Amino acid sequence: MSISKSFGVLTLVLGFIMTLPAMADGHAGKGLKSAADFEHIKDPEERGKAMFVEMGKVLTHPRCVNCHPKGESPLQGESMQLHQPFVVRGEGGLGAPGMRCITCHMHENYDAKEMPGHPVWHLAPASMAWEGKSLNQICEQILDPERNGGKSHEQLIEHMAEDSLVGWGWNPGKGREPVPGTQKGFGELFTAWINGGAHCPPAL
Ligand code: HEC
Ligand code: HEC
Repeated sequence: MSISKSFGVLTLVLGFIMTLPAMADGHAGKGLKSAADFEHIKDPEERGKAMFVEMGKVLTHPRCVNCHPKGESPLQGESMQLHQPFVVRGEGGLGAPGMRCITCHMHENYDAKEMPGHPVWHLAPASMAWEGKSLNQICEQILDPERNGGKSHEQLIEHMAEDSLVGWGWNPGKGREPVPGTQKGFGELFTAWINGGAHCPPAL
């Protein structure tokens, strides 16, 4: 066998081994497990923690983190670099006077310029910062009414499952990678997590 031929076979074998985990989760291609995928974990606390780790694939994705930064400015792109041009949160997350988010961000994505858009495009409050936080910290933050905008468990479910600004993450327009799964599937996973006792993954 020639060197190039054996290399080809090796690549094939490696490629197959690497797709095995995706095949095992039952949702190959979509990238997010469903609530049913966790039913085999009998201990409710362990099940909850595992579910939150799965939801972390969405929560720590650049599409979400770019609007939940720790500083006063949004981030952008897959590498979550500082927003260019420089803008700040301003009152209510709407941007500084004269530099409002909606000066540039339209009601919907503008694919010709790869510009993201939404009718209420604005920055999450500093209390909801996820940038650089662990899953444990993000989990505690989301559950804390002092820092989550006074949201009850019911309101959190509604926000995750229905809010169209959250939904933008699955429909970010040209040039951006969407968050994994669907908002519906994510909403069902979040609902199951809340109803199962809302267990956070351990602090590292
Ligand atoms: C002067 C114009 C301008 C203003 C004002 C502006 N933006 Fe942007 N924003 C842009 C441009 C242009 C991009 C796209 C850059 C790119 O990816 O090519 C962008 C991208 C973003 C992204 C990146 C989305 C992603 O996941 O890649 C976020 C988040 C964002 N803006 C939030 C805001 C927020 C919040 C405000 C108000 C506080 C705001 N922007 C104000 C021009 C602006
Ligand atoms: C364009 C900016 C923007 C993007 C993108 C964005 N958010 Fe937000 N998010 C906000 C704003 C603004 C608030 C505060 C709104 C409120 O309290 O009603 C918020 C609040 C939240 C809250 C309220 C609870 C809390 O304490 O955090 C959750 C949950 C949330 N976002 C989830 C997400 C998820 C999940 C994604 C990605 C799929 C996402 N967001 C993407 C702007 C954004």
